This record gives sequence, structure tokens and C-alpha cells, in this order.
Amino acid sequence: MLIAIDGPSGSGKSTTAKLLARRLGLGYLDTGALYRAATTEYLRCFPEGASGDEVARLVSDAHLVCDTSPDAPCFSINGTDVTAEIREPRISAAVSTVATNLEVRRLLTAHMRRVIDEHGRRIVVEGRDITTVVAPDADVRVLLVADPEARVARRAAEVAGKANRDEVTDQVLRRDRDDSTVSNFTDAADGVTVIDSTFLSPDEVVDRIIALLP
Ligand code: DC
Repeated sequence: MLIAIDGPSGSGKSTTAKLLARRLGLGYLDTGALYRAATTEYLRCFPEGASGDEVARLVSDAHLVCDTSPDAPCFSINGTDVTAEIREPRISAAVSTVATNLEVRRLLTAHMRRVIDEHGRRIVVEGRDITTVVAPDADVRVLLVADPEARVARRAAEVAGKANRDEVTDQVLRRDRDDSTVSNFTDAADGVTVIDSTFLSPDEVVDRIIALLP
């Protein structure tokens, strides 16, 4: 049972995917975390910036390890645990530099497919291009959407006290813009079910996905 979930920042992907994996006893892969881990290493190695080829070489040579537990997924790159660091605002701000590099996308897509196969395809995978590029053959393919105001409100609740509402609005809208240059996650591809989570609880979204299982 391979379940692919795509959607923009704040659509509730991670919460839904983890809950779903727990309910069905499946693994969980957060593919955004792989782009974030690569970005952490990029900023460490190239604080002044780098060419596209240098970024691609860095990712090609990197030893990337991801834990696929839905409870406490951990990530390390070249032996350093970056689980906490990948969530820092400086990583969110720089991640599109890495995620728009086509060779990096090819390398990380291959890595994701290896993780899926190692799991015997018993896994929930979330990201931006899972239903279209990484696993278009998944058993269930969902595009999770939500109104921008709802997405901003969720992000604001997550970062309560660390950023004000205007900053969060800017971040969400900027991420939408940056991310849409890499993949189209606003229109569902053929065979992908759109679920609007604006007025649904995480459990309700999970129930809807479970209703789609073959
Ligand atoms: O889901 P997230 O916010 O942690 O993702 C971090 C970045 O990685 C996001 O800006 C877009 C990119 N990404 C991507 O291009 N393809 C994916 N499959 C997952 C994430």
C-alpha cells in the first residue's frame, strides 16, 4: 500500500500523512525534509553561495539517512543529525535554491524511490511531486489543498511567538511562489483526488483518504 500526498505549505500534509501512517501501520516519508537536509549541508559548505553544479555534486556525494517512523522521523546528512536544524527559518528561506536544481531533484527522487522500495511500498509519502513524478503509480494519490487564510493560520499557530502574522503570511505566499517554479501542486494530475482540508479536522481528512483505499 503506497499512498502519495502532495500539497502546498500549510495544507496539513504532514499531520495527515503521519496520522494515516499510524492508523494503517505504514512507514512515513517526509520528502520536504530531504530537500531541507540537503539545504543544511549546502549552507554549511557554501555560506557564500555556489554554482548549480557544485550544489548537485554536494548532494550526489552526500550520505543521507532518513528514519521513516511516523512518530519521530529523524534525518541525518554526512553523519550529522539535522532533525531540528532543518526546521529553522534560515533553511526554509534557502531551500528553493536547492529544490530548483534539476540534478538535485533527480538525485533525491532516486533516493525517495529507494526508500519506498526498501519499505516494500508500505509507506505514506508526502511532498510536492509525489503523485506526479516520484510515485505516479501509487495505490492512492491525493492532492491536499486549503484556502491561503487557513494555511497561514495553521503556520501561525505552529510558530506562535516566533513570528508575527504578517511575517507568516509573507512566508507562506513566498513559499507558494518559489515552490510553484519547481512543480505544479495546485492542479491535480489525472487520477489524483483533491481533498480540501480548509474546514476539515486532520482525522476527517484521514477518513476521506482511507475511504479511497482499493
Ligand atoms: O514540505 P516542506 O515545506 O518541508 O518542503 C520544503 C521544500 O522542499 C519546499 O519549499 C519545496 C521542496 N519540495 C519539493 O520541491 N519537492 C518535494 N517532493 C518536497 C518538497
